[in-house]
Amino acid sequence: MSFPKVAALAALLCMMLRGSFAQLSSTFYDKSCPNLTAVVRDTVSQALQGDVRAGAKLIRFHFHDCFVNGCDGSVLLENQDGVESELDAPGNEGIQGFDIVDSIKTAVEASCPNTVSCADILAISARESVVLTGGPSWVVQLGRRDSQNANRTGAENNLPSPFETLDQLRAKFNAAGLDSIDLVTLSGAHTFGRSRCVFFSGRLNNFNGTGSPDSTLDPTFRDALVIACPTGDGNNRIALDVATPDAFDNAYYADLVTNRGLLQSDQELFSTEGAETIEIVNRFAGNQSDFFAQFGQSMINMGNLQPLLAPAGEIRTNCRRVNPTTTTTAGTAVM
Ligand code: HEM
Ligand SMILES: *[C@@H]1O[C@H](CO)[C@@H](O)[C@H](O)[C@H]1NC(C)=O
Ligand SMILES: *[C@@H]1O[C@H](CO)[C@@H](O)[C@H](O)[C@H]1NC(C)=O
Ligand SMILES: *[C@@H]1O[C@H](CO)[C@@H](O)[C@H](O)[C@H]1NC(C)=O
Ligand SMILES: *[C@@H]1O[C@H](CO)[C@@H](O)[C@H](O)[C@H]1NC(C)=O
Repeated sequence: MSFPKVAALAALLCMMLRGSFAQLSSTFYDKSCPNLTAVVRDTVSQALQGDVRAGAKLIRFHFHDCFVNGCDGSVLLENQDGVESELDAPGNEGIQGFDIVDSIKTAVEASCPNTVSCADILAISARESVVLTGGPSWVVQLGRRDSQNANRTGAENNLPSPFETLDQLRAKFNAAGLDSIDLVTLSGAHTFGRSRCVFFSGRLNNFNGTGSPDSTLDPTFRDALVIACPTGDGNNRIALDVATPDAFDNAYYADLVTNRGLLQSDQELFSTEGAETIEIVNRFAGNQSDFFAQFGQSMINMGNLQPLLAPAGEIRTNCRRVNPTTTTTAGTAVM
């Protein structure tokens, strides 16, 4: 072996022994925060007792985080000097659950101060939310750092809209590095949580200028939605999964098969003629274990998008704000 190769190998070994080898790993906090999973689970569980939607809110944060500059906690940043919050992008308008994220962060800080990133807190919370509502578990990869900036343009461009066609949804997932299986699988998170009427009321009457309701919407379900969304009440919140609104199961896919997907973007997965996604919807509608196994895999895929690794980024003290720059070394904020 040549000298440069030996030197490079020695440097690599050195980094690994010091535990600073920069890549995601399921054991990242085993030494620095051994009780992390229990603390997060406990706090999410408490949140669920007061708010049946707590889990839905948390997994959505992780999704909106990962789709903009990777999973780096950028979605949580509010407007401040040098930061144009992603929360002002249309896709994040009205997103909820900051109080829950704050309570998890507070509990984690009490157990392991200045150790766990907000990006990782979202990743673990997403899994705990699914497990606590009846869904599958998976091994969460950890070691993400928090960004020191946000990307509002990225949020405007990358987040999918409920008014998009399958082609458009696929394009956004592909651009992020996710395929059609991930798209169908991750959309299954709409097995819990709510959507405001404004995101689907266009389907109820004059859909897309046709003068009729969306033809892919079951007429009886449509009539119920008309009653649930009286004109002027665009902010009423309706279950994304009409069958089992708060449980994490495969009922979402049976909804699609019976034309009871709430959002156009949901129903597109099953109703787009000739699409390869139809077969996947049918598969998951008929086999919950199959959906659960794939859901864990797709969540890992999403969680692996563009990780921000040490020495870049920071461990934020307050998830909503970049740390004050007093002690941090200039030049580490590389994005
Ligand atoms: C495929 C493209 C997607 C579109 C167009 C979409 C769109 C939406 C919309 C419009 C809402 C309602 C927001 C509101 O009323 O304020 C919503 C809620 C939700 N989304 Fe998605 N979503 C998509 C994919 C995903 C993915 C991949 C996940 C997670 C893995 C997810 C998780 C959720 C959850 C859990 C809720 C309910 C949140 C709550 O109750 O507060 N969505 N989504
Ligand atoms: C770990 O956290 C849980 C939940 O907060 C707590 O009940 C338990 O006592 C903690 N265990 C240790 C060893 O700190
Ligand atoms: C923001 O996101 C866009 C993708 O929409 C990307 O092209 C751009 O490089 C990002 N900007 C920064 C500063 O990361
Ligand atoms: C809506 O109408 C436009 C123009 O007629 C058409 O290109 C598009 O495919 C329609 N969208 C849906 C979901 O039917
Ligand atoms: C359901 O999916 C699981 C996991 O992929 C598989 O092992 C099982 O054989 C499937 N069951 C049926 C009835 O197809």
